[in-house]
Amino acid sequence: MRLGVLISGRGSNLQAMIAACADPAYPAEIALVISNRADAAGLARAAAGGIPAMVIPDQDRREFAQQADARLRAAGVDLVCLAGFMRILDTAFVNAWRDRMVNIHPSLLPAFPGLHPQRQALAAGVRFSGCTVHFVRPEVDTGPILAQAVVPVHPGDDEERLSARILAAEHRLYPLAVRLVAEGRTRIVDDRVEIDGWRAPELAALNPAPPDMLVRPSG
Ligand code: GRF
Repeated sequence: MRLGVLISGRGSNLQAMIAACADPAYPAEIALVISNRADAAGLARAAAGGIPAMVIPDQDRREFAQQADARLRAAGVDLVCLAGFMRILDTAFVNAWRDRMVNIHPSLLPAFPGLHPQRQALAAGVRFSGCTVHFVRPEVDTGPILAQAVVPVHPGDDEERLSARILAAEHRLYPLAVRLVAEGRTRIVDDRVEIDGWRAPELAALNPAPPDMLVRPSG
């Protein structure tokens, strides 16, 4: 399966996909990286990985969509992966790639869509947050959920610490979710994702952890 990855910045999820695709057994390859920003650090990661990359400025949403669509098609892309792409996409573009475009968001959707989801999670006082890979629909951070990872909130967490913990999970989850799509194991039925041969974990995680696992304050 040929992937087109859309980025706007750091590109650490792109890096995780590059690493996954380096394994010959991985069923996908990155055909093209598109950034809407010339200063995106992810562009250097694409270059280092020998992956074709280009900048399409996004002053005009429709113009961006038309150019991106043409480039993705010319590159033979089967699946578009949004990886820290920070611009709302043109609805016609989203509909043209319906069920062939995925996104990763750093919360357990449908909780905390939009900007600063980690900050939203801390403000809400939740004990767990995480990340979600979902198929993309026109409304921001909505669409059939493909995979999620749960991450505990620790006492004293700030936005930076929680974001780092979630990001480490993102880097494991995104390649896994894309693998399932690339292997042809996913189907969307009634706006939910069915996965062939899916195994769910048995364990529930408790937070706070049970008493025997409590850490005693020192001193
Ligand atoms: C990630 O947290 C992703 O979930 C969100 O934007 C961030 C992008 O980080 N959509 P990076 O550019 O992949 O490092």
